[in-house]
Amino acid sequence: METTFYGLPLVYEPGRVFAPRRTTELLVAETLELDPHRVADVGTGSGAIAVAIAAHAPNAEVWATDVCGEAVRVACANVERHALGERVHVLQADLLDGVPTALDVVVANLPYLPDSEHVPEYDEEPAAAVYAPGDGLTHYRRLLAAAKMSLRPEGRLMFQYRGHVLEAGRGELSALQQRLESPAWVAS
Ligand SMILES: C[S@@+](CC[C@H](N)C(=O)[O-])C[C@H]1O[C@@H](n2cnc3c(N)ncnc32)[C@H](O)[C@@H]1O
Repeated sequence: METTFYGLPLVYEPGRVFAPRRTTELLVAETLELDPHRVADVGTGSGAIAVAIAAHAPNAEVWATDVCGEAVRVACANVERHALGERVHVLQADLLDGVPTALDVVVANLPYLPDSEHVPEYDEEPAAAVYAPGDGLTHYRRLLAAAKMSLRPEGRLMFQYRGHVLEAGRGELSALQQRLESPAWVAS
């Protein structure tokens, strides 16, 4: 199937690879405002975020990771479709494994819904792309720790969480973690 994300045509595979959502375009817009040169897109799915950033930031090099082989295959197809293969590197990997360090931005839209929750909007999506064990924060907790090692000192982490973009500089990751762990999210 085909969709449009950030003005770009992209393929995705319903039920196999997460369909990019409009809300995620905000994450791309905020990343582009930073004019980054070295970017990691963690949990790339169809490659939507990586492709949109590379297409709109001609000086950016992007590393896109996903643990799911089908997502990697679709992301590679979208990268090729937009002739971005020289600047977008797709890896089948956990979080930032295999990605070079000294990154300007780590951007992510990872699964964060607790697996005890059921959100009908996502019924057509692969469960592993949407739900995470326990309170749902396992992936983001691990990403916060990994980003600390991978970002350059002035680099920023930005990720999507419950319709918001959460972000912090490398030196502010502890404060971001506290915000993420706040019980206020549960009520929202
Ligand atoms: C909600 S989907 C988002 C896909 C895409 N970023 C987007 O916004 O359309 C989350 C993606 O994260 C991937 N994922 C889950 N755990 C991961 C991990 N530990 N490392 C890398 N990718 C992961 C899933 O396979 C899925 O493709």
